[in-house]
Amino acid sequence: MTTYAFLPEPGPGITMEDFLKFKEFFYRRTGISFELSKRYFVDKRLVERIEATGTANFRGYFTMLRLQVSGEELQQLTNLMTVNETYFLREEYQFRCLVDSILPEIVRHRTSSDAIRIWCIPSSSGEEPYSIAMYLLERWGGISQWDVEIISSDIDTSILRRARGGRYSARSVQHMPARWLEKYFKGVGDEYQLCDDLRSAVEFTRVNLSEPADTLSYRNFDVIFCRNLLIYFDDVSRATAVETFYEALNPLGFICLGHSESMSRISSLFKVRKFPDAIVYQKGLETE
Ligand SMILES: C[S@@+](CC[C@H](N)C(=O)[O-])C[C@H]1O[C@@H](n2cnc3c(N)ncnc32)[C@H](O)[C@@H]1O
Repeated sequence: MTTYAFLPEPGPGITMEDFLKFKEFFYRRTGISFELSKRYFVDKRLVERIEATGTANFRGYFTMLRLQVSGEELQQLTNLMTVNETYFLREEYQFRCLVDSILPEIVRHRTSSDAIRIWCIPSSSGEEPYSIAMYLLERWGGISQWDVEIISSDIDTSILRRARGGRYSARSVQHMPARWLEKYFKGVGDEYQLCDDLRSAVEFTRVNLSEPADTLSYRNFDVIFCRNLLIYFDDVSRATAVETFYEALNPLGFICLGHSESMSRISSLFKVRKFPDAIVYQKGLETE
């Protein structure tokens, strides 16, 4: 005789209506826009968090997500929803452009000895800002005369912890020249630990680029790297991001984007600059 001792629990089944409600909510909070084709990716992570929080179903979880004052669960979920793919010296031509064209131009126009400020958003696990720091040390003569501050931000708090720790896989450092690898890293098992001097050269902060309150104090930058984030944004969030960058940059400051990214609104606010290694965008003088 067959016995059904274990009847299935009501599952956290997520309907299309639930998905659409969540998609709209998450977009408003993060600027990240999920197409229908990403439904499996999104549902899987929602189910993971519904189970981890012991919530009965999507409805209960979604209510908690919206109403929780601390925002802790939204942060946990955001950490799962982000795509953190990155590696050292990714799109290296822009770092060449930085040291051979952008920085020489910045210091030529500099009338004060204030530090040169670079904002790298999103940082993911830190390979990009640390690549910039190494490039400056290895390839930019001006480093002995100028202070440089590198601030690097991301919305994902768990990836920021990894960035601060500076421990990397072989895959992550595979494009690094052997001499740099030897100079700046120590092998630990099959991983690589970045040296403390470089770790302390970059300040990591949690910033949601789509939240004006988060970016308000980010001002007076000379260069912004924003690579491989706008691909996850729609036109409206991209336009907002451009306006944020405009406010964050000094007059004549530069923006470097990922190679496949363009920004609506950018053409009206920034000039296109074609340097030998890369095309970048430049803010005008405030009076222009
Ligand atoms: C693909 S990584 C890009 C990393 C690096 N810039 C690069 O090009 O290699 C995208 C990063 O964007 C971050 N991100 C997504 N939405 C964000 C937002 N609204 N504000 C800040 N960072 C965000 C994610 O957490 C993720 O680490």
